[in-house]
Amino acid sequence: MTEKKTKLLIDTDIGGDVDDALALALALNTPQLEIVGITNVYLANAWRAGVTKHVLEVYGREDIPVCTGAEKPLIGWWDESRIPNSSPDYGEFRGEKLPHACDFIIQKAEEYPDLVLAAIGPLTNVGLALAKAPHIAKKLKIVMMGGEIGQANPEWNIKCDPEAARIVFESGADIRMVGRDVTLRCQFTREEVDAVKAADNPRARMLGEMMEKFIVSFGYLPILHDPLALSLLVWDDILTMEKKRILIETAGEFTRGVTVDCIWGEGAEVLAATDVRAEEFKKRMIEVLVR
Ligand code: RIB
Ligand code: CA
Repeated sequence: MTEKKTKLLIDTDIGGDVDDALALALALNTPQLEIVGITNVYLANAWRAGVTKHVLEVYGREDIPVCTGAEKPLIGWWDESRIPNSSPDYGEFRGEKLPHACDFIIQKAEEYPDLVLAAIGPLTNVGLALAKAPHIAKKLKIVMMGGEIGQANPEWNIKCDPEAARIVFESGADIRMVGRDVTLRCQFTREEVDAVKAADNPRARMLGEMMEKFIVSFGYLPILHDPLALSLLVWDDILTMEKKRILIETAGEFTRGVTVDCIWGEGAEVLAATDVRAEEFKKRMIEVLVR
């Protein structure tokens, strides 16, 4: 009997931190995942879509639809200095013939009742989709990299658009949250980056090139934030998940965008990552990235 594949839509801010490209590579190299589309989000969408297209080309998967999405958060703050700079420039792509990411997400959620949405960037596209079509929430499983439990500082994906994050958390969708408190424990060493680069194939060469550019621009080795969220769909023995009630702070003077682990019973019930087998995860990631 053939195994039923998981239908997966990835919403990504690829082109900044290199971990989005590594997450995409994990998904593309996992046969039990069927990627039904990739949507881009947050500043310079056409440029990010160009990076997405390039990755797909190298993996021979130009058939996967790529959409551009929201440029700016629903309200408030954005950081122009975080316009992507850590990927080689592969040119702009506008996805002219495809709907906006928000409508594409709605379309795919309606088409596939068992759709999984991997949200690995700011949550603007996903929040817009859930605001426009709240009925999709009850069918949607969202696996996300975002938030940080037990910290008064906001994690990047939530900080960029707290209102959108709040819409997503309060939507009633089935949410698996992999926060920065856990992902920070999964940073490649220099030797691990070199192990990926040592593989003599175009995919690993491209990932090696992207990781080197990231290391120079950001000044530290890649942290596997987004791949760790995706790992939930690939391996069931890497992350420990626990039920939590999460509130999104949208008003704090210094804490806007914080994910509050609420002990008083308020907030959205989610499954949140609380522990990771980091060394085993990195070992498996390398095995996947060299393919
Ligand atoms: O805080 C980490 C998150 O911010 C990751 O998704 C990374 O790619 C950046 O978007
Ligand atoms: Ca990301």
